[in-house]
Amino acid sequence: MSLPPVIAIDGPTASGKGTVASLVAQKLGFHYLDSGALYRLVALASEKEGIDTQKGPELSLLVPKLLISFKNNQIILNGSDVTEAIRTESIGLRASVVAAHPEVRLALVDLQRSFRQLPGLVADGRDMASVIFPDAILKVFLTATAAARAERRYKQLIAKGISAKLEDLLQDLQARDARDSNRGAAPLVIAEGAKVLETSDLSIDQAVKTVLDWYQSAIA
Ligand code: DC
Repeated sequence: MSLPPVIAIDGPTASGKGTVASLVAQKLGFHYLDSGALYRLVALASEKEGIDTQKGPELSLLVPKLLISFKNNQIILNGSDVTEAIRTESIGLRASVVAAHPEVRLALVDLQRSFRQLPGLVADGRDMASVIFPDAILKVFLTATAAARAERRYKQLIAKGISAKLEDLLQDLQARDARDSNRGAAPLVIAEGAKVLETSDLSIDQAVKTVLDWYQSAIA
């Protein structure tokens, strides 16, 4: 029996892939995996437990101890609601350091694949198409210019009442892009066979519609 279909959506930080991926999942009635949240959870747990972000093997030992549940847009880690706590810029930066360790990436493989359930899965991240679901029926590389991404992040933070400087956000996301793209283990790449979706000038609805159209063509 063939495995449930996967739509893999990869791309750089703040490209809007999370928003697009979760809406595509909603429209199709598919499950949704936000793989970046898993790296953020490891980052948060390592901070709580005082584990050095340079120590890959020690960080990977945290993974089996994480009791994670995704429910109604809430993320629960070992009994606490960490939905907001994992979204800070500092946890994002820490996650990109933690995610550079091959031991951490390996420890998260089975957990990510366990989300592949009927009727299908939309998975977003950096290596969904290249490493975790190489047999995805549709592979999308969703991107936007660094300036457009920094501006989106800025608007999101301001809307939440969090003060931010556009210039600092741009610098932070360029640093994360560089780390995510240049690391040895599963760097952010456009996977073979992936379709590139440039969203700098697209609305969310347009981006979602494009992915849904591509999916319909892929299964036709
Ligand atoms: O998508 P995000 O910003 O929530 O991801 C946080 C960090 O996790 C990002 O800097 C890189 C890392 N990440 C990864 O290495 N592989 C993934 N599949 C998802 C995220």
